[in-house]
Amino acid sequence: MISVTEMQICLGSSCFSRGNKDVAVFIKEYLKKHHLEDKVVFRGARCMGNCTNGPNLSINGKIIEGINLAGIESILDRELAKLK
Ligand code: FES
Repeated sequence: MISVTEMQICLGSSCFSRGNKDVAVFIKEYLKKHHLEDKVVFRGARCMGNCTNGPNLSINGKIIEGINLAGIESILDRELAKLK
């Protein structure tokens, strides 16, 4: 069975202005580079109601808080390891 990973990045105004704008670009590039575009559905999301702990990313419904450009690659390496 092929299961698709759903990944949503919060593009609500708080998360967007605190770095998710650039992190979203990085994630798109990352998925392309690792040939994961058909295994991961990546979308922008509205405010997740968790601005205080943001910027936020959700992977299969699990929210990962406080993401930033410096740390996102290791998060993706860890979370998507089983897909590679
Ligand atoms: S803007 Fe991202 S949780 Fe509110």
